[in-house]
Amino acid sequence: DAFLPVAFVIGYLFGSIPFGLILTRLAGTQDLRSIGSGNIGATNVLRTGRKGLAAATLLLDALKGTAAVVISGYIAGPNAAMVAGLGAFLGHLFPVWLKFRGGKGVAVYIGILLGLFWPAALVFCLIWLATAFTTRYSSLSALVAAFITPLFLWWFGHLALASLSVVLTLLLFYMHRENIKRLQSGKEGRIGEKA
Ligand code: G3P
Repeated sequence: DAFLPVAFVIGYLFGSIPFGLILTRLAGTQDLRSIGSGNIGATNVLRTGRKGLAAATLLLDALKGTAAVVISGYIAGPNAAMVAGLGAFLGHLFPVWLKFRGGKGVAVYIGILLGLFWPAALVFCLIWLATAFTTRYSSLSALVAAFITPLFLWWFGHLALASLSVVLTLLLFYMHRENIKRLQSGKEGRIGEKA
């Protein structure tokens, strides 16, 4: 389908908007790159102490994924929607504007799922919340939720979405490699701890 490369580029352009960096710079907080994990995501924005900014980062980083999927799906159907989702994820992880140093993909993963098959986004959020309430680790919560999501999609017969989800989950695990090391050595910061 001729539109698929266009869907990928639309997705990439949406995904590569670094809302965490934009919002914290507008608000004049500490430089995200120099605090906490150095990541540009909502978890690290929270380490500036600005809860509202963190919530806005989570929401906007998620909705850019939803927008990419919904727009591409509206123009050219479900395959284009999935390709746009992959593009948005890669755009967030590897934004050309930031020398390809982007985020870890949790919020945008949720937004992509919301656009493709909303029950999967709900499941991701519920697993994230359940793990976060019990362990207070943002990274571990994302790893557990991302691990379950492809299984959930496969279980409900959404095989194409499950395949896409496997790719997103593998990338998400790769982006969390430093978090995984810190979790193993007991050095990972918990939610609510300041930078
Ligand atoms: O959103 C990414 C989260 O899972 C971990 O973030 O800043 O603790 O590396 P961070």
